[in-house]
Amino acid sequence: MSDFIPVNEPLLDGNEKKYLLECIESGWISSEGPFIREFEQKFAWRVNRKHGIAVTNGTAAIDAAVEALGIGPGDEVILPAFTIISCILQVVRCGAKPVLVDSNPLTWNMDVTQIEARVTPRTKAIMVVHIFGLPVDIDPVLEVARHHGLKVIEDAAEMHGQTYKGRPCGSFGDISTFSFYPNKHITTGEGGMIVTNDDSLAEDCRSLRNLCFQPHKRFAHNRLGWNLRMTNMQAALGLAQLERLDVFVARKRRMGAMYTEWLKDLPGVQLPLPRTNYADNIYWVYGLVITETKGLDAEEAMRRLAEKGIGCRPFFYPMHQQPVLLRMGFFEGEIYPVAERMYQQGFYIPSGIALTDEQMQRVAAAVYEVLG
Ligand SMILES: Cc1ncc(COP(=O)(O)O)c(C=O)c1O
Repeated sequence: MSDFIPVNEPLLDGNEKKYLLECIESGWISSEGPFIREFEQKFAWRVNRKHGIAVTNGTAAIDAAVEALGIGPGDEVILPAFTIISCILQVVRCGAKPVLVDSNPLTWNMDVTQIEARVTPRTKAIMVVHIFGLPVDIDPVLEVARHHGLKVIEDAAEMHGQTYKGRPCGSFGDISTFSFYPNKHITTGEGGMIVTNDDSLAEDCRSLRNLCFQPHKRFAHNRLGWNLRMTNMQAALGLAQLERLDVFVARKRRMGAMYTEWLKDLPGVQLPLPRTNYADNIYWVYGLVITETKGLDAEEAMRRLAEKGIGCRPFFYPMHQQPVLLRMGFFEGEIYPVAERMYQQGFYIPSGIALTDEQMQRVAAAVYEVLG
């Protein structure tokens, strides 16, 4: 279908080509190239952090963060039921126990009022995951963490350029992580970043990223690491994208406002909150949640929209219903009604930065036809 509108397309119209050409002409294509350091420093600076460690993707960034914090067997980590599986993988692999909280039905973020009741003597960390464009209300989380002596991992994969009470997302965790997958506000194709102010955690993450080679006895290893190195070419893209971040955030906010204006009178459909008292939405994606009275769920709505040439994606499948985790004995009998409902009834419409106003109008018209 030639006029199919994809759910996402990146915009690569800044210095991307120029910097990539520099990689090719100089021969610096591996992780040793100069764009890596520059991208790490400029990105870390942008989120008010001392250290940036570029890695292969946002999942790898979380893996390394969990390992660097020393989380292991017997530990518990509190995280939202409504998130991507990336958040839970290393927690489970290292032998720790994931402990879930449900979401706030308005912001779609973890319900921070549920966290303290989930703390036990074994709790080691809280993983805060900012979802879809609005940050988690993070002050109460930091308060619980401080009170119980817990570490905070902040997954800011979707939050480039977002702030909480005026301070950058990614500046709140003991360790915070980002993704640069092409559906993010800025992309490196595949890629991720760990940021922290802690020198020792940063050194650990750099080592874990690079197979834990030792400076003086390179091929003798004291610890199991990974190869999570980003290439100079990816960092070249990232740098060019970072130069455009403010423009991209402004455009995404404008796009969110336009969709809201066009869809606000659609009955029985919940739209993203434009703002809370701590942040304005940056609309990483523009989600819709259909009320049950409409008689159709997200799957059926997406199917009908696809017939009209509109690409959509479902919301996250809740962690406590993941077949692989249930098989491993986690979450038996646990219920998180908000996360369950969001998966059943929620999906997002084309939200990519390259979308034109005319395409967005077509999307909104198709949504009206299907859900009006
Ligand atoms: C909240 C969140 N965390 C982690 C990730 C994983 O990032 P990546 O796809 O780069 O591995 C994503 C990806 O979309 C995400 O949305």
